[in-house]
Amino acid sequence: MKVIVKDNYDEASLEAFKIMKEVVVNKPNAVLGLATGSTPLGLYKNMIEDHKKNGTSYKNITTFNLDEYVGIDRNHPESYYTFMNKNLFSGLDIPAENVHLPYGDTKEDCDAYEKAMEHVQVDIQLLGIGGNGHIGFNEPGTSFDETTHIVELQERTRKDNARFFDNDINQVPTHAITMGIATIMKASKVLLIATGENKADAVKAMIEGPRDTSCPASALQAHKDVVVILDKAAASKLTK
Ligand code: PGA
Repeated sequence: MKVIVKDNYDEASLEAFKIMKEVVVNKPNAVLGLATGSTPLGLYKNMIEDHKKNGTSYKNITTFNLDEYVGIDRNHPESYYTFMNKNLFSGLDIPAENVHLPYGDTKEDCDAYEKAMEHVQVDIQLLGIGGNGHIGFNEPGTSFDETTHIVELQERTRKDNARFFDNDINQVPTHAITMGIATIMKASKVLLIATGENKADAVKAMIEGPRDTSCPASALQAHKDVVVILDKAAASKLTK
């Protein structure tokens, strides 16, 4: 894993943007694996600004998102479908038909998403990391062999996400559909961003811990091209 430590969130976002832009410019029909959450917002702002200022085009780009809640409508204000349209897609020239997010709560829904990805090679997979080490919604204990599947969200994850649901954990969905770790590992390149002290333990386990399902992100130790971008707070527990 290549680890880059920046002073703060804005600098980490800018560094991630440079890597993402390189992929998009070098391969105008690239396939991007995308993520939601607070972490990628700075990167997405940079992508939109660059598209508007410099004309970097996403006309031939295809995207596949990592995950989506189960049990809320796609048009719910906190669905990941809404999040992506609001925070990224509406600011780019990407055609709606090139955009993919998982949706549903059955095995058939999971299989359909895997099938949609079967003949595509994700050029770069963007990831955040949960305070518990999850990637996508692959919570601790998830087998590294899983493909797209339905998960029950852990209490820590639901607490972390309650800020988007009136700070009321009862409103946070209990389940989600997510790409599995095996799906994520197929990407040519992985770009993981983590900022803030809340992520420091998970970052340490991902990089310095054993490759073990207790920290789902540690699966990435076996991937040949991973760039981890941290701010100082997220890097604060690393020994080296
Ligand atoms: P966050 O979530 O970016 O909102 O911190 C990251 C994650 O849970 O993967």
